[in-house]
Amino acid sequence: MIDSKTALKQAHDAMNKAYVPYSNFSVGAVIYTVSGKQYSGCNVENAAYPEGTCAEAGAISAMILDGEKTISEIYVMGEGENLVTPCGGCRQKIREFSTSATKIHICSPDAIRKTFSLEDLLPASFGPENLEV
Ligand code: THU
Repeated sequence: MIDSKTALKQAHDAMNKAYVPYSNFSVGAVIYTVSGKQYSGCNVENAAYPEGTCAEAGAISAMILDGEKTISEIYVMGEGENLVTPCGGCRQKIREFSTSATKIHICSPDAIRKTFSLEDLLPASFGPENLEV
């Protein structure tokens, strides 16, 4: 079982490392896999704006590099009044490594604000099984 207080601290640490000179909007993400490993990511922007990458993408890359593939929980943290829900591209990226039990926690800098399933965020999604013909 993942201790949410620890997870929030890790997400906060990741958020504080974001490279965001253009939007000034920092995002941190922490993935916990089904085998209990954890991976952090932050958004990394670029002067060529579309080349920036999201926090979730960084955490997923770290997970894959370490040989892990199944997300148990992912914490996504950002500031502001509105929920920092994953963008459309990140929903699809998370989809690739999720199950129906995967939890997506949307966090402020100090608390979980709302928890979603992948199906909540990306209903009727396209995944690896759809390629089976
Ligand atoms: N961002 C993320 O890192 N994750 C999301 O799912 C939403 C958006 C980043 C991208 C960009 O650096 C900044 O937030 C503003 O869009």
